[in-house]
Amino acid sequence: MKRIPESEAISEMADARRFNEFMGSNRFRQQEYRELAQRLAALGVPDGGKVLDVGTGTGFVAIAVATALRERGVQVVGLDLSPAMLALAAENAQRAGLNGDITWREGNAYAMPFADGEFDAVMSNDSLHHWENPVQIFNEIARVVKPEGAYFIHDSRRLEHWWPRLFAWGIGLTIPPDFRVHYWGSIHSSYTPEELAALVARSRLNGWRVEAGFMEVAVVRGNNTEV
Ligand SMILES: C[S@@+](CC[C@H](N)C(=O)[O-])C[C@H]1O[C@@H](n2cnc3c(N)ncnc32)[C@H](O)[C@@H]1O
Repeated sequence: MKRIPESEAISEMADARRFNEFMGSNRFRQQEYRELAQRLAALGVPDGGKVLDVGTGTGFVAIAVATALRERGVQVVGLDLSPAMLALAAENAQRAGLNGDITWREGNAYAMPFADGEFDAVMSNDSLHHWENPVQIFNEIARVVKPEGAYFIHDSRRLEHWWPRLFAWGIGLTIPPDFRVHYWGSIHSSYTPEELAALVARSRLNGWRVEAGFMEVAVVRGNNTEV
């Protein structure tokens, strides 16, 4: 299956609202966001640490991370290109009672508005397949994360075999038709584990491993892995 890139930002308010409405009301997605937060926490986020969520969108992962780690004094920053997505993220955080724990920053991940080594951990979900130049963003993640900090860059996986495609087709049937096109767009624009490993190898990230699941892929470094 050939890779078909998707556009970078979800910039129109109507599209942002639709994304927010669908993801916000889908209990499987909300459960996945909570699991992603736990997976990040397991990689090692220190008490009082600072976490960056790259391509935070309407903030669901950032909110899940802040909810899971707020008692340990962890602060979360959500970065996104799209003011429309960030406006909805702020509303979602307010509704979750998390206002003081998350900062929303408009900005481009190609040139992040953060200092070197500012973050103890960097997270990203479902954004990688939008990036036209992932190596440049990996380099920015390498710059803003502490030398032994954790990162977890998670995305859908391009499905090359018929059985996960059949599974995805079944999932697609449960998704409203206007959103189904984005679901398949994400899968078609995502990377295979091999492609992703080749891209990361060209970047300044170190100590990484690529984790491949049935329908997902991630670039991971835990703070206890060798760097
Ligand atoms: C499919 S949404 C995922 C949102 C969120 N991470 C989630 O899991 O629900 C992808 C997001 O990545 C953002 N994005 C894409 N390219 C970006 C870039 N270069 N810099 C910052 N954000 C970017 C888009 O604006 C969009 O909000």
